[in-house]
Amino acid sequence: MAYLALYRAWRPQRFKEVVGQEKTVTALYNAIKEGRLTHAYLFSGPRGTGKTSIAKIIAKAVNCENIEEGEPCNQCSSCTDINNGNFMDVIEIDAASNRGIDEIRDLREKVRVLPAQGKKKVYIIDEVHMLTTEAFNALLKTLEEPPDSVIFILATTEPQKIPDTIRSRCQSYSFRRLTGTEILERLEQVAASDNIELDKEAGQLIARRANGGLRDALSTLDQIYSYKGKVIKKEDVLDVLGLVDELFLARLLEKVLEQDTAGIIEMLATALGEGKEAQQLARESALYLRDLLLYTVMGDKADFIIVTEAARPLLEQQKSQTNQDQLLEALHLMMDTADKLRLSEGNRFILEVAFLQMAQIFDTEAPVVQPTRPQAQTVQVQAGNKSARLDAREVLWNRLLAGVKEKNIPTHALLVPGKLLGARDDVLYIGYKKGYRFHKERMEEKDNRELLENVAREIFKRNVQIQFVFLDDEQYNDIIVKKAIEYFGEEIVEIKD
Ligand SMILES: Nc1ncnc2c1ncn2[C@@H]1O[C@H](COP(=O)(O)OP(=O)(O)O)[C@@H](O)[C@H]1O
Ligand SMILES: [Mg+2]
Ligand SMILES: [Zn+2]
Repeated sequence: MAYLALYRAWRPQRFKEVVGQEKTVTALYNAIKEGRLTHAYLFSGPRGTGKTSIAKIIAKAVNCENIEEGEPCNQCSSCTDINNGNFMDVIEIDAASNRGIDEIRDLREKVRVLPAQGKKKVYIIDEVHMLTTEAFNALLKTLEEPPDSVIFILATTEPQKIPDTIRSRCQSYSFRRLTGTEILERLEQVAASDNIELDKEAGQLIARRANGGLRDALSTLDQIYSYKGKVIKKEDVLDVLGLVDELFLARLLEKVLEQDTAGIIEMLATALGEGKEAQQLARESALYLRDLLLYTVMGDKADFIIVTEAARPLLEQQKSQTNQDQLLEALHLMMDTADKLRLSEGNRFILEVAFLQMAQIFDTEAPVVQPTRPQAQTVQVQAGNKSARLDAREVLWNRLLAGVKEKNIPTHALLVPGKLLGARDDVLYIGYKKGYRFHKERMEEKDNRELLENVAREIFKRNVQIQFVFLDDEQYNDIIVKKAIEYFGEEIVEIKD
C-alpha cells in the first residue's frame, strides 16, 4: 500500500474543510457563488496555513462540472484531475526555482492560448516574492491586460518583497497562523480517523511547536508515528523532536533564581548526558523564558509555547520572583547563546557559562555591575551586542578569581594579572602579557595550578585543564589563542603590543 503523507492526505478539498482563515474563506466562497471572482489574487501568510489548498479549491470550483453551492464536487473529471495534478489548465509555478522564472518569461504568450481542457486556466505562482525583476516585469505586463479565461493566484510568505505595482493589481488576502487549539483539534481528528492513539498532552505539544502551521504539525505527527507507532505519548514527542521537558526547564530556572550554580551545572550535565543538544537546551530555555515573560504581561491570556498545566505552579512562583527587565535580558542571552551554539557545534562551556550569566541577571543581592573592561592597550573586547550585562568571559573569570581568593590569597595575587582568553574542549586558556613571566611560571607550578583546577572543577563539576600562554608570543597568539577565543563567538579579542 502506497503511503500518503498525512499532510497531503488531509489537504482540505472544499471551503468548509478549511481550518480557520474564516474571512478569506467566506469572501472567496461568496465570490464564487455569485460569479464575482476577479482575475488576480495575492495570498500572503506563513507556510502551512492553507494558501495552496485554497488556491486549488478555487481552481476546482471554476472548472468543476457539477459545482454545488459554491463548492467543487471533487467527483467530476476536472476535480479529480486537479486533485491528482493532471489538469492541463491548472498550472503551478514555483517562483523559487529556475524553471519557474523561465515559465514566467513565456507567460505573456501562453496566457493568450485558450484553456485546453477546462473553463478557466488557473496559474498558481508559489513563493512569488522570489521572482527576479525581469520576471516581475513580465508578470506585471500580463496582469495589466489579463485575458478573460485566466485567474492568477500568487502566494507568498514575504508579502513585503512584492512590488507595489504587482500588489495593486491583485485582491489581497492574508492568512494567519492557526491557533494551538485549532491545530490540536485537527490533529485529534486526523489521529482518530487513522486509528492513532494520540495523548492529549502529546497533541498539545505538537500543536504548540508547529508555530501556527498545520502542515508542520501534520508532518510532525507523521514523523512520530513512523518512529513510535500508533500509540503516541508526550515522551514520544519530546524524544523524537529532541525537546526538553517543560518541568525540567522550569526547575532549571528555579535553580537559576536560587543562585544554585552547582545545581545548574548538574542539571545541564544530566540533560547533555541524556543526549540533548546544547543548542536545543538554550533554545528551549529561551522559549520557557518567553512563556514566563508573556505570563507576567498577559496572565492567563498568554498563548504558551512550552508551559502546560504541569509547569503552571512553578511558573506562577517564578512570576513573583522576577521582573520584566530581567526576563527580557535573560531571554536575549539565551537566544544569543543558542545562536552561538549553532555556529560552534555545541561547545558545552558556552551553555554552562551562559547559565552562570543568567544567574547573575537574576541576582538581586549583587550591586548593579558595569562591565569592567580589560586594559584597553592589551586586550580589546568587542562584544557583539553591548549591554549592562557582564559578558561570559567576565562572569567566569570573576568566579575563578573569587574561588581562588577564598582558598589562597597569594595564588590569587598571581592569577589577577592574567586574562581569561576562552575555553575549548574542557581546557581553559589564561593569558599573561609581557612583564608577567614570573606570575605565569608560578601559576604553572603544581600547587597553584591544582588549586585553580580545583576551583574550576567546583564550578563545572568535572575535570577542567588550564593552559597558560604568553600573549606576546606570536605563535601562541595565532594558533592557540585564536582557537581558544572562538569560544566567545562574535566577540573579537585583538592582541596588540
Ligand atoms: N487552513 C488549513 N486548513 C486545513 N488544513 C490545512 C490548512 N493549512 C494547511 N493545512 C494542511 O497543511 C497542508 C499544506 O497546506 P498548504 O495549503 O499547502 O499551505 P501553504 O500553501 O500555506 O504553505 C495541507 O495539505 C493541509 O494538510
Ligand atoms: Mg503553498
Ligand atoms: Zn467537480
